[in-house]
Amino acid sequence: MLAWTTTPSAPGGLTLSEVPEPSPLPHELLVRVEAFAPNPGDLAALPGAPAGSIPGWDGAGIVLEAAADGAGPQVGDRVVFLGLGARGWAQRRAVPHAATAAAPSDAAWEHLATLPVPATSALRALRKLGSILGRRILIVGATSAVGRIALQLAARSGAHVVAVARDESRHADLRRLGAHETHAALSAVAAHVHGAIDMIGGQHLVDAYALLEPGATVIALGHSAGTDERFPYGAFIADPTTADRSITSFFLGSEPGLTHEMAYLAADRQLRVGDIDTRPWTELATWIDQGAPRPSGRDVFRVDHADSPG
Ligand SMILES: NC(=O)c1ccc[n+]([C@@H]2O[C@H](COP(=O)([O-])OP(=O)(O)OC[C@H]3O[C@@H](n4cnc5c(N)ncnc54)[C@H](OP(=O)(O)O)[C@@H]3O)[C@@H](O)[C@H]2O)c1
Repeated sequence: MLAWTTTPSAPGGLTLSEVPEPSPLPHELLVRVEAFAPNPGDLAALPGAPAGSIPGWDGAGIVLEAAADGAGPQVGDRVVFLGLGARGWAQRRAVPHAATAAAPSDAAWEHLATLPVPATSALRALRKLGSILGRRILIVGATSAVGRIALQLAARSGAHVVAVARDESRHADLRRLGAHETHAALSAVAAHVHGAIDMIGGQHLVDAYALLEPGATVIALGHSAGTDERFPYGAFIADPTTADRSITSFFLGSEPGLTHEMAYLAADRQLRVGDIDTRPWTELATWIDQGAPRPSGRDVFRVDHADSPG
């Protein structure tokens, strides 16, 4: 079969190569990959990946072989998969059934491929904030894929959603998705919040922490800014208005049992990570070589197979 393999000297650090077919372990299914959507984490991991390895986490496809242990989706089922062990940028991949979920038959591959990491991260991060019904919840970096899903899930859970995104041209879109307030900067947020999810890091995390009410938490989920966090003296000195505030880290790879939530998210007809640009998978290395330019959303790569039409 064909797969993108890491080749440090090649443009984009990848070569489309002939590789052996996957050999699923007893708890793994064999999936025909129809589409995959690179995440920032995929791209960040590329330079450190061993030469000759197959990168790629998220995607969607059809089960060719069920897991030998009998669990999980069966032959012919459409699935989304989340493989933090990579191997997804290929025509076929083996993936643990615990990292797959059944997908509706009428959902587009392009849409399904965008969901696994962003949507499960958003959902699990929100869970860590406890009940958000009627509470102010701050989403920092709300135009990010994780941020958009978090915003939509928080709004349907009854939160008052405060969305912060630097690109004001996207604010109307964020309000359509359910944001009650939109701001270009955290300095414009006027009232304290019960909880926050930060996708950006750096000064954004410092400022989000300062907006917490007593007992509230900010989840430092992402670090898109790539800059240090420098807290001013006094940031952690508590009084009755600032007691028991916390910052916590988050790692999707340590979250167990995502199957049911992935199925819920895949079955949803409304959730969107943003705009989707669809490309043939043969363009992957060129796209990465060009700096992975993409819309406010995801680029999705459609995989060719010998029996693909056209
Ligand atoms: N901890 C985990 O397990 C986990 C899981 C999933 C994702 N993540 C991390 O979460 C973050 C978001 O992931 P994603 O897939 O949602 O990302 P994404 O779709 O690529 O979005 C990135 C966002 O970052 C914003 N941004 C980038 N640099 C910025 C800066 N200097 N100042 C302000 N905003 C900036 C972009 O704003 P514009 O739209 O204005 O460009 C965009 O909204 C990433 O760091 C990712 O690695 C972590």
